[in-house]
Amino acid sequence: MRTRLDDFISRISAQRDILNSIAERRPELPDGPILEIGLGNGRTYSHLRARFPDLRIIAFDHENGAHGSCRPDDADVVLGDIQETCMSYNGAAAAVAHADIGTGYPEKDAIIRQWLPSRIVAVLARGGFAVSGLELRHPELEEIPPPPSVEKGRYFLYRRR
Ligand SMILES: C[S@@+](CC[C@H](N)C(=O)[O-])C[C@H]1O[C@@H](n2cnc3c(N)ncnc32)[C@H](O)[C@@H]1O
Repeated sequence: MRTRLDDFISRISAQRDILNSIAERRPELPDGPILEIGLGNGRTYSHLRARFPDLRIIAFDHENGAHGSCRPDDADVVLGDIQETCMSYNGAAAAVAHADIGTGYPEKDAIIRQWLPSRIVAVLARGGFAVSGLELRHPELEEIPPPPSVEKGRYFLYRRR
């Protein structure tokens, strides 16, 4: 029987493998920062920081709650509800936006899926990559197959048209 632990491991390794695949495509990235949409404990922030040491990473969350070993400067954290802060963001358009804000509750995630795609498009440069734990349906976003190691439907990769 598949467990929540199995799902967690699958999600976490999908994040790592997709972020690594974007790092390998570095020459294709447009100029711009990386946006970490949902900072949480800072695990993926830490991975992004290691893979893209020369790029600014701006994190969005209700609070700067990352682990002390990988806590972004407060100047690089946009506090508040992502549904609003992405719309009021007036920084440079992003080379990469990673959104890990799924809840695991289908009815809650269905609501997030309604507003998240437009928020991603609002902050992402043309040619930029969007990575998300929730499917993003938007005409500006072209889905790209993730690395073969990623379980189907587990994590999603897009490029802005
Ligand atoms: C699953 S955690 C992210 C984990 C992170 N990727 C890591 O590796 O540590 C999701 C985070 O998104 C934040 N979040 C979810 N929805 C949000 C919203 N609408 N506005 C602001 N923050 C939100 C939560 O507070 C939580 O910290």
